[in-house]
Amino acid sequence: MTPDGNLSATVDPGKPRKGGLEGVVAATTALSKVEGTTGRLIYHGYNIHSLARTASFEEIAHLLWFGHLPNVTELSDLKARLAAERTLPDAVLGVLRALPATTEPMDALRTAASAWGAAAITGKPTTDQAIAITARFPVFLAAFQRLRNGMEPLEPRAELDHAANYLYLLNGQEPEEQHVKALNAYLVLLADHGMNASTFTARIVASTESDIASAVVAAVGALKGPLHGGAPSKVQDMLRAIGTVENAEPWLRHALAHGDRLPGFGHRVYKAEDPRAEEQREMARVADPREFVLARRVEELALALLDEQKPGRRLYTNVEFYTAVMLASVGLPSDLFTATFAVSRVAGWTAHILEQINNNRLIRPESEYTGPYDVPFVPLEAR
Ligand code: ACO
Repeated sequence: MTPDGNLSATVDPGKPRKGGLEGVVAATTALSKVEGTTGRLIYHGYNIHSLARTASFEEIAHLLWFGHLPNVTELSDLKARLAAERTLPDAVLGVLRALPATTEPMDALRTAASAWGAAAITGKPTTDQAIAITARFPVFLAAFQRLRNGMEPLEPRAELDHAANYLYLLNGQEPEEQHVKALNAYLVLLADHGMNASTFTARIVASTESDIASAVVAAVGALKGPLHGGAPSKVQDMLRAIGTVENAEPWLRHALAHGDRLPGFGHRVYKAEDPRAEEQREMARVADPREFVLARRVEELALALLDEQKPGRRLYTNVEFYTAVMLASVGLPSDLFTATFAVSRVAGWTAHILEQINNNRLIRPESEYTGPYDVPFVPLEAR
């Protein structure tokens, strides 16, 4: 980005532009850095590998919102603030009750966030609002999950951390420690990721000086698509359809021959292994050793076949592939995978919204017109 706030390109100006804003720097940010060629992800200075299995989601949210990892007092203060915000306002509950049970969880989450914003949000985005909406994402989702299964939502438990409370609200049982650990690690890994499509969406809306709920609702919409956050349930569908190690090669060959994209592979920025996929692979190995055998074989074959299809263009496993194994291992139904991604990423979205408005200039690119000129108008009755 140029100092006057214009988009800038890292692409060679001599080369034709590829579309999809590839190579365009759309914002400056101190929140996270994705190094595509080396496969490195940094959250405000910290390599993701140093955070993945040791940090809590709340510590990462603090890092993103306040710019540093919390000390003991700061962490317990943030946990208390998040716990205090875990409420399900009547306006939102009424909207969730009105939705058909067949509603997709991402649609339910988007609708709940919008209803909450309508009732609760005014003015410029603030850190308090970022905490309030992040605290409520698991509450909204778990309420919807229970309602669509004919059960009443549960009261959140203030003594449980973010991941544990989400599992408790979904199942009504004391969550197992290894499930909490796995889900927490997932939430840490997915919290922010440079200028991905949903984050860019949130920043665009924030740049118009709209409110935080509108920016987050728009981001949920962007995340939902299968090219972005909608991939992991499709990975699980693929693993279910393949079923056995023996069936993997014919199934994958058939899919590729039909021009299908294999969910969980490829990435706009990574031209090396996605470090989050590396972490998730090791976690999945432990979380569900049986499913891991099939997933690993499918991964190896998919990479080999993608390479065979286009020898010059190497594709890698992305974060969504082992997400499917990880989230299934903690007992989540596959149609909650993408919405659980949002439970994590809302911390990143809100941090980006705050960063955007702190040094705002309306994001307003241009388009290249390819339509005709000077077409004479013909009145309706003469057409
Ligand atoms: N399976 C088969 N072929 C693929 C795949 C894939 N998963 N990904 C890319 N390709 C092929 C494309 O067909 C294209 O081939 P072509 O040059 O012959 O047309 C080439 O690789 C380059 O693909 P692009 O579309 O230019 O890649 P782009 O950067 O636009 O897209 C994306 C990246 C959307 C992630 C893509 O790799 C994809 O569709 N993957 C599958 C869906 C997926 O896993 N999404 C989750 C991404 S991670 C995240 O958002 C959290």
